[in-house]
Amino acid sequence: MVSPRARLVGDGVENPANALALAEAARMFAVPCVFRDSRGLAGHVPDLSTVDTEALLGGADPVVAVDNAPGAESVYRAGTVHGGASIVVGNERRGIRPDVLRAAAKTVHIPMPGRGVNTLNVATAAAVALYYLLDADGRRRPRAPRPESHRPALLLAAPRDHVEAGSTLRSAAAFGWQSVTLDDREKVWFGTPRPVRNEARAAARSHRNPLRVVPAGDAWSPPPGGRVVVCGPDVDGPPLHRTELTGPGTTLVIPDGDGWEPVPGAEFARVTTPGNVGRYRLLTGIVLAEAARQLGARTGGVPRPPRRGLSFGSGVDLTVPPDADLVQPWELTLY
Ligand SMILES: C[S@@+](CC[C@H](N)C(=O)[O-])C[C@H]1O[C@@H](n2cnc3c(N)ncnc32)[C@H](O)[C@@H]1O
Repeated sequence: MVSPRARLVGDGVENPANALALAEAARMFAVPCVFRDSRGLAGHVPDLSTVDTEALLGGADPVVAVDNAPGAESVYRAGTVHGGASIVVGNERRGIRPDVLRAAAKTVHIPMPGRGVNTLNVATAAAVALYYLLDADGRRRPRAPRPESHRPALLLAAPRDHVEAGSTLRSAAAFGWQSVTLDDREKVWFGTPRPVRNEARAAARSHRNPLRVVPAGDAWSPPPGGRVVVCGPDVDGPPLHRTELTGPGTTLVIPDGDGWEPVPGAEFARVTTPGNVGRYRLLTGIVLAEAARQLGARTGGVPRPPRRGLSFGSGVDLTVPPDADLVQPWELTLY
């Protein structure tokens, strides 16, 4: 059943693969998906549902723009939407067109604490926005101050698709992770050719904050005394946003499907949506957003010096495995 509560609108989206992923994000939340097609998308996507400017902006239903535009409020604090709202996401390079931003009842952004990548894939952004704008009630209070000392480690477990893995790594960098462990048993990342653009190579050298992707090895086990929280749609546990996802010694595991055997003693956090949870990037985007939300924002503008001794996070950072893969921010924005 399709909910009349909202619809997802892609404004000027140009990549057909992103359009299909957006339709999947909408299905996850049982809302319709339409496109204001200013970039010839209909020529590449059969049976595209479209909306024109008059129908999008001229009606009585509220428009909620999802973009990191100046003055946008945090999606975590925006409250839930009502009354057939159009939730609009924008073009992969240019974002939402100005006429939508002007007409919007509100504009929300997904806070991006990462240094290097400051946007999500458009379909991932849509899934995160729908998660918070349509529900996620009874959320835990965010932490802060000193969120970084509580950032959980992250294990991506057996992603089955190269693009979904890349898109997830982009999300991880944008949400502030500097290191991610990847169980690549499906062989989608290490040793496979990644999209390389020569013109971007020079730019890559100037970036100082690559994402470190560490192979999990054959028998991954959590650090001694650590807590493991397995997050997914099919696990038996409390809702994601009511589960503590942060804290020193915590590892979040996000399996792609059910091919990953949880370690003994693991806890579970369930990602529930009105429709079936779609592709991996949408699931991981929601989990990482919720963990970042729970971490909270750093208070004050001046970063604190590191404390004496090792926190769990800094302990992880100081160990640079020789087989780690450094992925540059420019490369992540291709996903
Ligand atoms: C890749 S982004 C566009 C990039 C944008 N022009 C820029 O460089 O800042 C494509 C669309 O995804 C959505 N999006 C991505 N990251 C977002 C974020 N952090 N907050 C809100 N929307 C986001 C927005 O709808 C945006 O128009």
